[in-house]
Amino acid sequence: MSNVLLVGTHWGDEGKGKVVDVLSENAGGCVRFQGGHNAGHTLVINNVKTILHLIPSGILRDDVKSIIGNGVVISLEALEHEIKELMDNNISIENKLFISQSCHVILPTHVALDIAHEQSLGKSSIGTTGRGIGPTYEDKVARRGIRLIDFFNTDILRKKLEKSMKYHNFLLKEYYKSDTISVDSVLDKLTPIFDRIKKYVCDVVPLILDLNKDSNIIFEGAQGTMLDIDHGTYPYVTSSNTTLPGLITGTGIGVDKVDYSLGITKAYTTRVGHGPFPTELHDQLGLDIAKWGGEVGATTGRARRCGWLDLKILRQSVELNRIDGIALTKLDVLDNLEKIKICVDYGDIDYESFEVSDMEYLEIDGWMSSTVGITDYDKLPDNAKKYIKTIEEISKTRIVMISTGPSRDQIITLEDIFA
Ligand code: IMP
Repeated sequence: MSNVLLVGTHWGDEGKGKVVDVLSENAGGCVRFQGGHNAGHTLVINNVKTILHLIPSGILRDDVKSIIGNGVVISLEALEHEIKELMDNNISIENKLFISQSCHVILPTHVALDIAHEQSLGKSSIGTTGRGIGPTYEDKVARRGIRLIDFFNTDILRKKLEKSMKYHNFLLKEYYKSDTISVDSVLDKLTPIFDRIKKYVCDVVPLILDLNKDSNIIFEGAQGTMLDIDHGTYPYVTSSNTTLPGLITGTGIGVDKVDYSLGITKAYTTRVGHGPFPTELHDQLGLDIAKWGGEVGATTGRARRCGWLDLKILRQSVELNRIDGIALTKLDVLDNLEKIKICVDYGDIDYESFEVSDMEYLEIDGWMSSTVGITDYDKLPDNAKKYIKTIEEISKTRIVMISTGPSRDQIITLEDIFA
């Protein structure tokens, strides 16, 4: 069977959730491999909006198994909350959700450390989601993390918590001058939640391999390429590998199992949080695009920064993720523009001032007519086709899907990804 990686080509929020949902019609499994509930995937089905943070977007289909790989960090509270929300909306979870026992768990001290650290950075803060993601990955690498598997034995769990939280509380008290958190309060809070969700926790690798014998699998990236801890705009990044290599370490699945890499690219570029953004629009046009595109963070509610499409980044993403084809999203958001710019290249980025040298743009005429809901490529206005062709030529990659609105059916499909 065939497997597809979906990866955001810029700073996340490219519209992966919708594309996963569309493709999952032909898939038996949908797998998350990194990040945590810092992600926010918005889906609109029959006019009902669902925002998923942790659970793979495939959960909305009855015959798709949603699998969370070892590379994901889990907030037990957020997980339970999301399960409840889905159940309240009559979306079944039973026998559909599977979570790796090796996932690291976000503790209340991780959240406190994330917030305290950001405050201590002042003007040079990263603008994290404040959900404890970074400190949890720090503990994983420092080999003092707590994994879901530890929750099966409360005595061992207590010992491990005492060890790692001693370090957290030292930092909170002595370095950040913040309140400490007791091991008992963490156990009291998290163990009852674990007891309610433990039926979903297992070794997911055999499950993925078995499922793959007769089903296609979607690997759903979270965040975007430029937020990758190694290859992104460091230090203004998240703490995981958001790119193709993250899939391998975050699931335990071999690289030979990735048959197609689908880059998800928004027709313009956005970023939430701080850090360099070469094509950012600081004027009214940036605000207008944000309004037309509903560019508000699905997780934090923060306004997203908007700018022109950055093809220098797209070319890097294509290389890094071995992208075979691009799904271009939110094309309709640009419907009202008389002129559209595309950034083709620039020089160095100054990581203090975020200034960028030698910006090079192409300008094309806009199409000034509605593309909302178009499902046939031939019906697109000529200038929209020209925009698409320009992106293809400069990125040297085919555009295989074009999203023309938030709903499942508002999409042009030019290639069968699973073929
Ligand atoms: P963290 O992942 O909470 O540590 O935040 C690090 C950076 O990644 C911040 O700039 C966040 O705004 C950004 N970030 C984290 N998750 C997402 C996402 O799902 N979409 C877009 N940006 C994100």
